Amino acid sequence: MGLRPGDVNLASQADMARIGGAPVEYLEVLRREAPVWWNPPPAVDHMHIPCVGFWVLSRYADVDAVSKDPGRFSAWENSVLWVDVKENPIAIGAQRSGLMGMDPPQHTGYRRLLQPGLTPRRIAALEPFIEAEAAKVIDELAARDRAEFVFEVAAELPMILLCQMMGVPQELRREYLRIANNVANVEFAENFEHTMFELYLFLDDLVKNQGDLDDDTMLSRYTRGEVDGRSLTADEITQFFVTLSIAGHETTRNTTAHFVRLMDEHPDQKALLLEDLDGRLPNAIEEVLRFSPPVMQFCRTATEDVDIGGVTIPKGDKVYLSYVSANRDEEVFDDPNRFDILRPNASAHLAFGTGPHFCLGASVARTQLRCVLAELYRRLPDITLAEPYTPMGSVWFNAITEMPVLTCPHAAAVGTAQ
Ligand code: HEM
Repeated sequence: MGLRPGDVNLASQADMARIGGAPVEYLEVLRREAPVWWNPPPAVDHMHIPCVGFWVLSRYADVDAVSKDPGRFSAWENSVLWVDVKENPIAIGAQRSGLMGMDPPQHTGYRRLLQPGLTPRRIAALEPFIEAEAAKVIDELAARDRAEFVFEVAAELPMILLCQMMGVPQELRREYLRIANNVANVEFAENFEHTMFELYLFLDDLVKNQGDLDDDTMLSRYTRGEVDGRSLTADEITQFFVTLSIAGHETTRNTTAHFVRLMDEHPDQKALLLEDLDGRLPNAIEEVLRFSPPVMQFCRTATEDVDIGGVTIPKGDKVYLSYVSANRDEEVFDDPNRFDILRPNASAHLAFGTGPHFCLGASVARTQLRCVLAELYRRLPDITLAEPYTPMGSVWFNAITEMPVLTCPHAAAVGTAQ
């Protein structure tokens, strides 16, 4: 028997672990049979804050429209995740002092502080630095026959860049990566409060020690900047960097890993890529983002009763924006389950969201993916998975926790035979 609406709970970590990756087949059923579907809270609550039920939006048009309608679907009302923080003053306070938990017009002012540093033109100016760092990462990989790709390779460039743009001294990079990874691991952390506290302390120290520097880093822009004629509070500054500490590296790391995995699983597409690496790489990256978006969802809260596709979403309920499902919507993408690096409209994907919260790091993410993957496939075109990868089994991230690779399978095979 095929899957039916209700067979999978999208807030259940057990269900996600069982599926082992993005629940594409289940979402296809929802798109077809119940495009606005009530997903109840999971039977076992694995979070540290109560999980709530939500309306799953699986069609591209609905995800797109709701993302662009912050008046009726707010990021400020409640958490943008599948938890309820309304009655928790600390959690709701933290949520609302970060960019992702604000609505316009407040959101617009805060976003303006950072936007100038992240425009495509500014990122283009950073490109020589990104290329040089990407070459170092691949140099280290090329010196080895075998490596664990996700953390030993794919994690490197996003963290180097995040530290550079934020203003984190390079010598604190390892420590920052360790703490930020623990925080991104919110669903599985044993002692999440302690982990959050560690990140707050780290960022607080950083703001105190680096924030006064008058340079072009995000730290300096946020600590010296003003919104509506007033400086930002320490909480606002720290909360912004908490968001960035999760959003700014985990996503790009996973896209790099998904790219290598998908090329391994689709040798015909890899051959097409290698025929014209520079020409085809940008669209191949868009297709990887469409096919395997690293962020599966964010939520919004209805500020009034709203009808979507004949279903009334009551005021106060959450809607779940499924980027995974929108990216496979057959109304927008022909034969959506086919991985096709030449797909003409691949970049219409919603992996970066859309509307006022559209990912601020999209340009820097695209540039670093292009730099590191160009270098990787130029130098190591034979890179292949050494054994099956381990998916994270998360409700939120479509992530890979481990992916051993062989850099040059022929050489490794010879080595083994000897
Ligand atoms: C492949 C890489 C990435 C993906 C797929 C991604 C995806 C997303 C998504 C889905 C959102 C939320 C959109 C919404 O709520 O409508 C978002 C927001 C955000 N991202 Fe990214 N992201 C990536 C890389 C980055 C990087 C490298 C940075 C920073 C250097 C970054 C910074 C942010 C920030 C600050 C926000 C909040 C924007 C706002 O609320 O106005 N992201 N991203």
